[in-house]
Amino acid sequence: MIPGRGAAALSTLTLAAGLAAGNAARAAAPPPTPSALAFADGRPGASLNGAWHVIVDPYDNGSLDYRSQPRPHGYFDDARPRDRSDLIEYDFSRSPTLQVPGDWNTQRPDLLYYEGIVWYQRRFDYDLPPSRRAFIQFGAAAQRATVWLNGRRMGEHEGGFTPFAIELTGYLRPRGNSIVVKVDNTRRADALPALNTDWWNYGGLTRDVRLVSTPRRFIREAQVQLAPGDGTRVRGFVRLDGMQGGGVPITIEIPEARLSQTATTDAQGTARFEFAATLERWSPESPRLYDVIVRAPGDEVHDRVGFRTIATRGHDILLNGKPIFLRGISMHEEALGRGGRATSRADAGALLGLAKELHCNFVRLAHYPHGEEMTRAADRMGLLVWSEIPVYWTIAWSNPATLAAARAQLAEEIARDRNRASVILWSVGNETPVSDARNRFLRTLVDDVRAADDTRLVTAALEHRAVDERTHLLDDPLGVALDVLGLNEYVGWYDGLPAKCDTLSWRSAYDKPIVVSEFGADAKAGLHGDALTRFSEEYQADVYRRQLAMLGRIPGLRGLSPWILVDFRSPRRPLPGVQDGWNRKGLVANDGTKKQAFGILRDAYKAWPAPAPAGGSR
Ligand code: GCU
Repeated sequence: MIPGRGAAALSTLTLAAGLAAGNAARAAAPPPTPSALAFADGRPGASLNGAWHVIVDPYDNGSLDYRSQPRPHGYFDDARPRDRSDLIEYDFSRSPTLQVPGDWNTQRPDLLYYEGIVWYQRRFDYDLPPSRRAFIQFGAAAQRATVWLNGRRMGEHEGGFTPFAIELTGYLRPRGNSIVVKVDNTRRADALPALNTDWWNYGGLTRDVRLVSTPRRFIREAQVQLAPGDGTRVRGFVRLDGMQGGGVPITIEIPEARLSQTATTDAQGTARFEFAATLERWSPESPRLYDVIVRAPGDEVHDRVGFRTIATRGHDILLNGKPIFLRGISMHEEALGRGGRATSRADAGALLGLAKELHCNFVRLAHYPHGEEMTRAADRMGLLVWSEIPVYWTIAWSNPATLAAARAQLAEEIARDRNRASVILWSVGNETPVSDARNRFLRTLVDDVRAADDTRLVTAALEHRAVDERTHLLDDPLGVALDVLGLNEYVGWYDGLPAKCDTLSWRSAYDKPIVVSEFGADAKAGLHGDALTRFSEEYQADVYRRQLAMLGRIPGLRGLSPWILVDFRSPRRPLPGVQDGWNRKGLVANDGTKKQAFGILRDAYKAWPAPAPAGGSR
């Protein structure tokens, strides 16, 4: 965010050597297998969305007694008094409710800045046939969750932006089940994200919750994508659950292409396949999706999949073998019009619709994995996606538990979206200060991506350093390991005035594609002044004009995702009457009002690569 804190003074080669040495010391064991069930939405089950009773519990009183010792009986029992003399000091059935999915912060004024524990509870009936298994699947719980069923602790999950599932088979009753979820969004120095972020720390059951029923032996996940290269071969794997022992026949079908292939599982229950295929390619101009059916004995799953290849060659990013320029915009996952976490298909469509109005072919979903609705909407609407985990700013780089949490979140993010054609970039960090510990931490994440998914590119939003008043250099040692170099820079806002853009040149230590993953300026919609009036629309528009001219001079530039589509809540932005707890770098205010800079970027993208005429209209 502030230049000059980028790569350390050591030469890139010195740090690169350090990186190489660090390789040997990095974790060899793979990250844990994600718990979420792929294809869950298409399986029988029941939605648990709707009103849940809640108890706000800042002292963790539901778990701890007055000596801060674990209670043998607490809120998690969802107990009722046995008789009139029985002492129970809570009652979910008489407690208020919150809507699920949704953050608690924007559902009740008293919870806007609440950070702590909220207990959620609801009852449900579920008649599970004896031949089937049952799971509860959460699209996300921010930031950590513990789950009880009928008073029995069933599992927990860390990480506020990725799905997880817990098996309930054998513990469900046909009638009157009580599910209790303890959700805690307290920030922690050793968590991801850590204590300091420039966005609001929403808490709650922020995405769909549903019961999912599967056969005893079922298809747990599958990847069906084009193999890297000339795109003439479909390649992937199918992983079964409950079918240990090899030799199980699997079928992969793409009916519209008259393709049907078989494969057989290995001893670990995984079948790998690769076969020739001629498929219409997915692209922003033509987001062609195919029905894909995967069958195993007693189970069948469907998905809508786009087929494309993505690669780099020198400075170029190649989509389906052709150079592409990523005309993008960054986004937080906040609902247009109401703020708070975006939760629905309509929310995703509204936000991505604005990106399409800008003539974007690309969105950077910052700074954490957005909901599946967003990446599926990107598939349908033809928007390429940069997806990232919240390895943001200052992280506990030397803490093994923090690295384990990052690896788990990365694995969960990749597992959920491995069939989303729109996702082309996995980002492993944002504006992280260079150090040996940080390099080792991020190299481990890069290695995890390479091992989990060789059909997408790896990037990170890096910082740069000023070599002199007129030259900025991108030489972050992590660049050695990345396919695409993200670059955050705020020339004209944090770094000098807008006119500084006019005389600045940029260099890179790498012959790799550069995506300027952030630039921008705050402007309160409707606040006007001249081009030097901070927080005016005119100032923001001037930054965009000058930035676009400057960036056009970067030789290896292959993409932009200016910061940011819509204003978003941040407790770091108090300026009364201007920010009021919102970061105002949006091209659009949260109420949908477009600022002047919206027209500047839209016209520039419409005319890209020729620079748009100065000016631009809203
Ligand atoms: C940083 C950071 C963003 C932040 C932005 C800003 O680049 O990545 O999360 O919101 O700067 O300062 O507005």
